[in-house]
This record gives sequence, structure tokens and C-alpha cells, in this order.
Amino acid sequence: MGNVFVFDHPLIQHKLTYIRDKSTGTKEFRELVDEVAMLMAFEITRDLPLQDVEVETPVTAAKAKVLAGKKIGLVPILRAGLGMVDGVRKLIPAAKVGHVGLYRDPETLQPVEYYIKLPSDINERELIVIDPMLATGGSANDAIASLKKRGAQNIRLMCLVAAPEGVELIKKEHPDVDIYLAALDEKLDDHGYIVPGLGDAGDRLFGTK
Ligand code: PRP
Ligand code: URA
Repeated sequence: MGNVFVFDHPLIQHKLTYIRDKSTGTKEFRELVDEVAMLMAFEITRDLPLQDVEVETPVTAAKAKVLAGKKIGLVPILRAGLGMVDGVRKLIPAAKVGHVGLYRDPETLQPVEYYIKLPSDINERELIVIDPMLATGGSANDAIASLKKRGAQNIRLMCLVAAPEGVELIKKEHPDVDIYLAALDEKLDDHGYIVPGLGDAGDRLFGTK
């Protein structure tokens, strides 16, 4: 635990480049984020346990494998995390989805929690916290702390792009949480934006500004 995985799959890297491109419009941005989220979910679920079953093929009885029923929970951080949920759910349709509403105060860069609604059995679930951006790390740090306060035991963090500052904060505050990224960028600018990053993920996903 406490590991950082950066997915270098060519499809993820290719799509991420167009996500970063400032000339990519809202519709295409949303579609690309959805696709990358699905590809990342494929990588993140590599270690899910399997169990043996018997299946009747048209030819014969066979021993085969199915997922061993590990319960998954997805927790997008509102609002930008919503843009990645459907992509992940394409691969894990049975996952329950909780929501944590946080925004980053533009002056202080401190996260402000305004909403939380979670599945009742989060203590039994493998939770994947989802947010495209891990910048200072304040939002993810607070979201994870909030989940732990409510009984969560197993948490992973999935982001598109991270700054080293955010990764270091999560490693320090939550050494039990593995971090999954499509890219680890260079730094933060003076306004707390990731450089080179992709700009404001929420605004680009929802066409606000
Ligand atoms: C963005 C992003 C993260 C946060 C990352 O959300 O989606 O939640 O900033 O920054 P941090 O690591 O420094 O906390 P924002 O506050 O812009 O809210 P939004 O998703 O509603 O647009
Ligand atoms: N939030 C964003 O949406 N983008 C950044 O670069 C940093 C925080």
C-alpha cells in the first residue's frame, strides 16, 4: 500500500494528450475523460480476486473463473470526479456510488466540504476515490479522511493528472492508500494549477467558466 502507479498504456497516453489540448471542446473532452477512466479501471482492477466455478459450454463442462464477489464502491469528488464515473462503471457495473462534494476555495486553496452521501456498508467495500486532478492534494486528503471517519477500511485513489505536491501529501497523510494516475506532472503554479496539467477539469467537463 502507499504505492503510486502511473499507467503508460499507449491508448491512455494518446487520449490524455487530447484531453490536455486547450483546443479540445467540451463534448470531446468529456468523451475522452470517459474513455480514459474506463481504460484506467481495467488496469486498477487487475488484482481483483477470482474464484473457481463450473460452466457448461456448448461442448462440455469446464472449470472457469468469476470475480470472487469483492464489493467495490466508487466515490467521485464533486464535481469533476463525476466525469470519470460512467467510464469506470462500464467495467464495474455493480459498484455502488457514493459522492463527496468538495470545492477548493480559490483564495486559500483549502477544500470546503458541502455534501456527502455514501453506501451504508462502506466499511466492507474496496473504495475507489475518483477525481481527475490531484493538485495540492487538499481535496483528496479531506475526502479520504471523511471516508475513514465513517468507517472506510480500504481506499484507492484514481486521478488523471497529479502534481508531486499532491502525491506527497496523500503518501504522508494516507500511507495505506494506493494512487493510480494517467500522468504525474511537473509542478503547481502560483494559483495551485497543475503544470502542464489540463486546466480546470470541472469547467472543461461541464462547459462552465
Ligand atoms: C478541482 C479538482 C479537485 C481539486 C484538486 O476541483 O476536481 O477536486 O480541484 O485540487 P487540490 O488537489 O488542490 O485540492 P474544484 O475545487 O475546482 O471543484 P469542481 O470539481 O467543482 O470544479
Ligand atoms: N483543479 C483543476 O481542475 N485543475 C488544476 O490544475 C488544479 C486543480
